Amino acid sequence: MAYDLAIVLPTYNESKNIVPMLDRLERALGGIRYEVLFVDDDSPDGTADLVRSIARDRGHVRVVHRIGRRGLASACIEGILAASAPFVAVMDADMQHDESILPQMLARIREENLDLVIGSRNIAGGSMGEFAPWRVKLSQWGRRLSLMGAAHELSDPMSGYFMVRVSSFERFAHRLSALGFKILLDIVLSAGPELRIAEVPYRFRLREHGESKLDMMVGLEYLELLIDKHLGNLVNVRFVLFGMVGALGVGVHLLILRGLLHLAGVGFAKGQTATTFLVMVLNFVLNNTVTYRDRRLRGWRFVRGLVTFCLACGLGVAANVAVANEAFDRGVPWWLAAFMGLLFSAVWNYGVTSMTTWRQERRSSEQRAQRRIAAATAQTAPAKTA
Ligand code: GDD
Ligand code: MN
Repeated sequence: MAYDLAIVLPTYNESKNIVPMLDRLERALGGIRYEVLFVDDDSPDGTADLVRSIARDRGHVRVVHRIGRRGLASACIEGILAASAPFVAVMDADMQHDESILPQMLARIREENLDLVIGSRNIAGGSMGEFAPWRVKLSQWGRRLSLMGAAHELSDPMSGYFMVRVSSFERFAHRLSALGFKILLDIVLSAGPELRIAEVPYRFRLREHGESKLDMMVGLEYLELLIDKHLGNLVNVRFVLFGMVGALGVGVHLLILRGLLHLAGVGFAKGQTATTFLVMVLNFVLNNTVTYRDRRLRGWRFVRGLVTFCLACGLGVAANVAVANEAFDRGVPWWLAAFMGLLFSAVWNYGVTSMTTWRQERRSSEQRAQRRIAAATAQTAPAKTA
């Protein structure tokens, strides 16, 4: 059977919402041939296992189970590309998005020959519902920031609810940044001015089960998305963050050293050594929580990471001085030589720590999955032996 529509539902710890979500879709989509694709990032609550077991009896339901990955935007992209229907709707799996407008969205995208139909909370007939006031404010700020340099004037670019024509999506899919939460904005900024768009109003609902994954880091990912969209052809976003942490470290270093020298009366050599070490630890902690939050090291791995980070940066300092000296000896002005040394050590530190300190680890996610499987078998085992 060929499908008219695919629904892509990214999930992270949504096991309580799966069954009611499928029921709601069934009620809303009478007469439409549709498939449902859940894209789950190895949720600890076993969302993927649950969907897999439902999919055994219902051919139109599937799960894309991703291991060692996190990210709402990339999950949506992979879901869209895994669908076989010509149109795909992306929505939250937590029932906050009103599924009753799906038939209307499908009718419009087809009849008006559009590329994208967006569910909007900010046009007549739509509403933020009882969304927390701080989230409404945040959404408005995000909107203002996002529209800089955008080709389209959208009422709700922060929406996570939209329908796209797959043949159009394929044209710009390779340009997507795939970072963070704001997939719709990514699409609109990547596709350019030729995109044909309409908006359909809906009322945003409150979440009933589970909790929102939006936190401070999502704000940071949003900035990453904008950096990538505007500078992505030049540099990698992780390197930009690593560099920003480094630059912050230099500022903090100067402040602390000044305090030690002038207020505490410490000698220069001692002060410089102590500050260097302190700032190295600070940079490690910041990079571990921000730049590499997806691979964050904890427990004894944190300690091991700190050691490899300090070793790498120590060598980086030596290389920095060597490069800067060499350049200076060849007649390069002092400030340019200094900058070359800094740049060299930034690239060095980034490269070496990405291969040592924060290299991808498989073991931890495997251990978690083994525990989950063991728990599930323990639950079903007594029934079998009885
Ligand atoms: N696969 C995957 N990976 N799914 C994720 C991840 C992830 O890392 N993070 C969140 N999700 C899933 C959630 O399970 C949920 O189904 C959906 O993405 C949205 O996440 P929520 O945590 O419920 O976000 P929200 O309600 O605070 O914000 C959402 O709605 C807003 C209004 O439309 C997001 O879609 C925002 O982008 C949107 O502005
Ligand atoms: Mn939600």
